[in-house]
Amino acid sequence: MLTEAGRRRTFAIISHPDAGKTTLTEKFLLYSGAVQEAGAVKARAGRRRATSDWMAMEQQRGISITSTAIQFNYQGHVLNLLDTPGHRDFSEDTYRVLAAADAAVMVLDVAKGIEAQTLKLFEVCRARRLPIITFLNKLDRPGRPPLELLDEIQEQINLRPTPVTWPVGIPGDFRGVVHRPSGDFVRFTRTTRGTTMAPEEVVPAPRAAQEHSEAWAAAQDEVDLLTAVGASLDLPSFLAGDSTPLFVGSALTNFGVRHLLEAVVDLAPPPSPRLAADGVRRALEAPFSGFVFKIQANMDKAHRDHIAFVRVCSGRFERGETLVHQPSGRQFSTKYAASMFGAERNTVEEAYPGDVVGLVNAAELRIGDTLYATEPVAFPPIPTFAPELFATARPHDTSRYKQFRRGLSQLEQEGVVQVLQDPDGDPAPILAAVGEMQFEVLTHRLSTEYGAPVHLTLTPHRLARRTDSTTAAALSSTRGVKILRRTDGTLLAAFESPYWLDHLQGEHPEWVLESILTE
Ligand code: G4P
Repeated sequence: MLTEAGRRRTFAIISHPDAGKTTLTEKFLLYSGAVQEAGAVKARAGRRRATSDWMAMEQQRGISITSTAIQFNYQGHVLNLLDTPGHRDFSEDTYRVLAAADAAVMVLDVAKGIEAQTLKLFEVCRARRLPIITFLNKLDRPGRPPLELLDEIQEQINLRPTPVTWPVGIPGDFRGVVHRPSGDFVRFTRTTRGTTMAPEEVVPAPRAAQEHSEAWAAAQDEVDLLTAVGASLDLPSFLAGDSTPLFVGSALTNFGVRHLLEAVVDLAPPPSPRLAADGVRRALEAPFSGFVFKIQANMDKAHRDHIAFVRVCSGRFERGETLVHQPSGRQFSTKYAASMFGAERNTVEEAYPGDVVGLVNAAELRIGDTLYATEPVAFPPIPTFAPELFATARPHDTSRYKQFRRGLSQLEQEGVVQVLQDPDGDPAPILAAVGEMQFEVLTHRLSTEYGAPVHLTLTPHRLARRTDSTTAAALSSTRGVKILRRTDGTLLAAFESPYWLDHLQGEHPEWVLESILTE
């Protein structure tokens, strides 16, 4: 069991849309031998998308809404790549995927650096102390000076970059990289759109100095500077989420992909005993346990299916085994278990800590639920994040009220939006989200899957904090604040202005106003 767990690396790639996440995912598969030619994943996803209305919306927007887990082997290791949805804006889904990952690869476009829209995503990783490996992508094109990007990472997310490879030549006139641990130069050769692995030529430093005199000297100066300021690989601080090993390259032309993949294997941590709600860590070799981090329903209209994605925390999962659903205490059959490759499903027979299993027809499972075999355990709930958008929801057609409520309850259970109620006001539900996309998905699905088109009216509130009943009572008569109750009983204080919140917090430091909402 420990050997199997030790071989696994479970990680997510996080990036701003267009930074190259999809391209890099494909290249990982190419380098692992899981696909013969890059382009396969996109093509495969495209074929499948055309078969479902739900996916049609994704296609229209040119984005991927659904997240999947891809498993592949590399150098005797099993890599589980959790795909975070590449939204133009945030969604709570992304945060939940990060709760199931042991590390993240942050892809930055060298021309853009850290973009405001995705800053929050990186901050979440940082706050959760998830070890992050950084990949500076698109060095085959003109971009910003890499040293400037190091400053940006340090300043904006308070993460100390420690480059392992460093570019020789400038973005746009990229010659290759210095591999700092060996001091060698790895020369870059362009491949046609990178359909095959990039040829890599390792050149000893003295020859590199002769052949690329100026570019090499400039790179050496920068490397000396990095060494002088202590920006060198530091494993303990990486594992603590304080520093980030940084690699440079070009996913499109495959350059630097191998270094990065090796870093995932060599540096990213294997699954470790997970902390349970009682404060005790569940040993990896304990009987099976896992938790649901994502639910997808009605992906395929013909089947009305409902898939719960479970991250294995301990023990061996065997398809067919009967587990216990911790919150209800009921038995749960795992006859229909699947692993995902792109949009295709394969039956999974067994899985180990770090792996992701898709349980089909799992309508009773909720996000955060624990499943176990023989030895009981409960993992803490997955934190939810303070919503920033609020809207009152009313069905267009009041005769469809029942369908509207049923749809809303299902979509809430899947975590598409949070459903709130104003205890003293309008009985219409108030929906809350961290990204606008969540509302779009909800509107689309209520109408197509439940035949209950909905009318959403945005409220003026811009942020919320979890609160308690004492603070809620004190705030209830304050202007610009609304107290709302989530279905699970959590009290939220919604504010119209962040300045107002700051002001109130300054005046009343004793008030409970938390930004990450644990249950
Ligand atoms: P995403 O999943 O993060 O949204 O990004 P994706 O991989 O789809 O990449 C976005 C665009 O950037 C794509 O171009 C892709 O080819 C390009 N790209 C990715 N990595 C590199 C790189 O290292 N160098 C360069 N020059 N470009 C890169 P596109 O025109 O939008 O799509 P396509 O027509 O190439 O598929």
